[in-house]
Amino acid sequence: MQPNSSNKINNLSKLTAFGEKITMLTCYDASFAKVMELEGVDVLLVGDSLGMVLQGADNTLNVSMHHMTYHTKSVAAGAPNTFIVADMPVGSYEHDNEAALKNAQWLIKSGASMVKFEGGGDRVETARYLASHGVPVCAHLGFTPQSVNQLGGYKIQGKTEASAQKIMNDAKAMDEAGVSMVVLEMVPATLAEQITNTIKAPTIGIGAGVNCSGQVLVLQDLIGIYTGPADKAPSDFKSPRFVRNFLKETNSIQEAIAAYIKAVKDQSFPAEEHSY
Ligand code: KIV
Repeated sequence: MQPNSSNKINNLSKLTAFGEKITMLTCYDASFAKVMELEGVDVLLVGDSLGMVLQGADNTLNVSMHHMTYHTKSVAAGAPNTFIVADMPVGSYEHDNEAALKNAQWLIKSGASMVKFEGGGDRVETARYLASHGVPVCAHLGFTPQSVNQLGGYKIQGKTEASAQKIMNDAKAMDEAGVSMVVLEMVPATLAEQITNTIKAPTIGIGAGVNCSGQVLVLQDLIGIYTGPADKAPSDFKSPRFVRNFLKETNSIQEAIAAYIKAVKDQSFPAEEHSY
């Protein structure tokens, strides 16, 4: 772990202990990281969404460990005092636990306080292995973008009783394995609330309703500049339901970030219209 990582984790625990909502935003470079730290975003996520919003691809499947460590270092340089979660990209954690640990430690050495990877089921033992070796882990459940092809596109998960039960079971198993945070993406708000009330780890929602322990948005969505893959016309793109363009309501990027923080903390975001 980085020398001041445990302090940052303690600060985060204080927020949840007092019932304050956690604000998380994706971030990929030092300039935005600096602005986000100044505005007081609780957690910066170096998401593998960078494959889409920076590289112009239509999914996250070509993101590498080199991309992730490069951007994690840049974010850590701009926000040395903020809690940083870095995504483990496709191929960096699924095959064996030793390789997963090595890659997770590479991200931690690059400035992350925690690593995130997608999926429950088989991934539970990987989470246990990393956590038992001192690496804080965030699980990502519900819609998992790295499995977009198996899931048949960008679709809400947990709509049937069986799939809702599977997500709940995965969340419980990940919690028991020692994860420190769970991202829930595109699941019904009622399911996300039940999970939040069941597990110890804080939940961070994206399209998962207001009753998670916190919220995350992709920066480019927050400022309304993401219009789909580089090779497609912006007019063919429709933002997902959970997106709110905070820049439209404000006069600068700083103000948009501040408005996002305020809306998450006072629970006016996400509203029903952003939830499933
Ligand atoms: O990569 C990313 O930006 C993410 C968020 C959508 C949670 O995983």
